This record gives sequence, structure tokens and C-alpha cells, in this order.
Amino acid sequence: MSNSELMGLTDSYVMSTYGRYPIALVRGQGVKAWDADGKEYLDFLGGIAVNLLGHSHPAVVEAIREQAGKLIHCSNLYYSEPAAELAALLVENGGLDKVFFCNSGAEANEGAFKLARKYHFRKGNKEKTKIISLSHAFHGRTLGALSATPKPEIQEGFRPLPAGFFHAEAGDIEALKAIMDEQTAAVIVEPVQGEGGITVLPASYLTAVRALCDQFGALLIFDEIQCGLGRTGSFFAYQGVGVRPDIVTLAKGLGGGLPIGAVCATAEAAAGFQPGDHGTTFGGNPVACAAAVATMKTLLSANLVEQAAVMGEYLQSRLAALKAKYPTLIKEVRGAGLMIGMELTQPGAPLLAKCHELGLLANVTAGTVFRVLPPYVITRDDADRAVAIVDEALASLA
Ligand SMILES: Cc1ncc(COP(=O)(O)O)c(C=O)c1O
Repeated sequence: MSNSELMGLTDSYVMSTYGRYPIALVRGQGVKAWDADGKEYLDFLGGIAVNLLGHSHPAVVEAIREQAGKLIHCSNLYYSEPAAELAALLVENGGLDKVFFCNSGAEANEGAFKLARKYHFRKGNKEKTKIISLSHAFHGRTLGALSATPKPEIQEGFRPLPAGFFHAEAGDIEALKAIMDEQTAAVIVEPVQGEGGITVLPASYLTAVRALCDQFGALLIFDEIQCGLGRTGSFFAYQGVGVRPDIVTLAKGLGGGLPIGAVCATAEAAAGFQPGDHGTTFGGNPVACAAAVATMKTLLSANLVEQAAVMGEYLQSRLAALKAKYPTLIKEVRGAGLMIGMELTQPGAPLLAKCHELGLLANVTAGTVFRVLPPYVITRDDADRAVAIVDEALASLA
């Protein structure tokens, strides 16, 4: 099928929940992807922070193939090796103790909210149910996660949303202090806000949030769905800022492209869940977990977390140099590791369209933030080529 045939078929039969770009991708290899008409792209979006190792990494392909030939699905009623191995990898490379597997980021956050409430319930604090999230946060599209995502445009039309969710201005510790109380069950924070426009929350703020949670006996949840697993230059983002949360949620890059989410927790917090409290049919699926084990082992053995830090610094500095060249178009370049946003003085859609035309995949978040989330395997040459395309696209707008 050609690009236009594929687009026509999709638009005829798939619900239109996305404003899709006019590109039909059919193949990927490393940092490159090709559309149905054979056009080659440099993929600096990586499936929105999913393809940590690039497309179709041989270790991931092999793990999927091998596991699919052995056991595709069983049930959480049975023990299964890939899930056990993956949980051990996550625990041994972080500072938390136990893992619950699910299928997506929103589902991981739902699990975290339920765990926080049940943890307090089991301790006899039945009124301790309040969950606080921050302005510009994005925690997912299910009703609970949407309640924690204070963005009117995506909440509109879905009310009533689950109760008990409150919001404070991100980065303002006094604002959080003003709404924290003894009824607070948990505070959820993205250490680097992704969909909100690539905002790095300072370590001093995150330390103060931890202290407030301790003061009120609330659990601290870090949503590392976009910023975790090496993207900011440490395996868990919290390790890079030196703040230990009680719960961390993961998804996106964990499965090397297969759908999987995880709720990681300290032994203390994890005790909130007992058999029968929570579950999901596909959570810990053997093929998804085998792909995740291969992804995590490759990340660690090939030092790709360090590579994300080094390449992130390089790419961010190259993009920052464009700010001097286009001062009327670029307001700020910011980010951590390979999670980089270039805030424009105008809507980002025309720049993105030009980049697509020139063969670079990226995206725009919060309307004006041109965002790149490339795989950790990019070389300096890849970064230079991407920056050259952005430069040419900016020149066409200037
Ligand atoms: C920080 C964060 N949390 C949660 C989610 C929701 O994840 P999913 O789309 O897998 O439900 C996302 C997705 O963009 C995200 O960036």
C-alpha cells in the first residue's frame, strides 16, 4: 500500500482520536524509518520516547522471536520467568524493592494511585485519600490519570472525573504546602515534565516535595514514564536528582517497543497491595517482558545511559546554538539528557511540517515546544544531520 492508500484506509475505519501527520511508517532500523512510499526519515521522536535502542534492535527482535516460540501468554495465576527476570533487573538497578506489571503508562499511574490509597487504608488511615499532582502534568488518559492531569482541553466532556484529585503549581513549593494536609495520600510528580513542554523540575524543589511528603506521611510518586530508563542520563531519573520516591511508574521505553508498564515501590509502600487488591490479564506478559529484559540488558551492557547523557548534552548545545542564529524564532532550548525541547515564539506546527518534508521526525508539545526524544544509540553524525535539518527548516520560516 502507498502512503495515501494507507492513510485512506485508516481514516475510513480507525477512530479519529489523533491528528495524524500525513506519513505512513512501514519499516524502521536503528535511528532510521521509512514510509510506505520509500521516503527515509531520521527518527528523533522514537515513537514518543519508546524506541530507546532505535527501531528493531537485533537483541529485542531475537528475544521476542525466542519467547514467542516458547510461551506467548500464561496468566498472573502462574509464575513466569521473563517477568521475574525483569522485576529483578528493575529492582537491582534502582533503589526500590517490588514491581507490579501492567500494559501502559496510564495504567501504571492508576496502579500507583490505588497502591497509595490502599497503603494508607491498610494502616487504618481511611480518610487519607487525597492525591496531588502539578500544573502542566501529564499522567495519561484513563479517568483517574485524567483527574491527575489538570489540562482543561483534555478533561472537557469527560466529567464527572474521579474525586480526590488536587493540583498545585509546578515548581512552587509554597503552593504545594498550602494544599498538603493529613488527608494527603500521595503527591505525583514528573521529574521532567514531558507533554507539558519539557520542564526540568529543580532537584531543590523535588527535595522539598520529598520533605513535605515525609512531614504529612504522604507517599511520593515519580512518574518516570517519559523521563525514566536512562533518558535523562541516569537509569531512574530520581537517581540523578538524589531524591528517593516511594513509588515510580514506568512504561514507554520499557518494552523496547512492546506495550508494558510497571509500578515500582519500596517494600513498605508495596505492602499496600495484597492478593486480590489489583490485577490485569496481560500485565507481565512473557513476550513483552522478554523484550523488556533484552532492552534493559542492552541499555546497561552497552553503557547507553551514559551515552544518553553525553549525546543529550551535545544535541542540546547544538540546538542552543540555533537560538543565537534565530533569536526571533527561538525562545529557549532546555531539557535533560535526550529529552529536549526548543520553545518557539510561535506555534511549532509549521516548523514540524518542514522538518517532516526534509526527512526528520520530531514533534510539538504544549503548542510551541518543538520536542526531540531520540534513541540513545544516535551518533554525533546523526545529531549533526538532525540539527542541519532543523536549521534549514527554521531558515525557511525566518
Ligand atoms: C509522563 C507520562 N505519564 C503517563 C503517560 C501515559 O502513558 P500511556 O500513553 O502509555 O498511557 C505519558 C504518555 O505520554 C507520559 O508522558
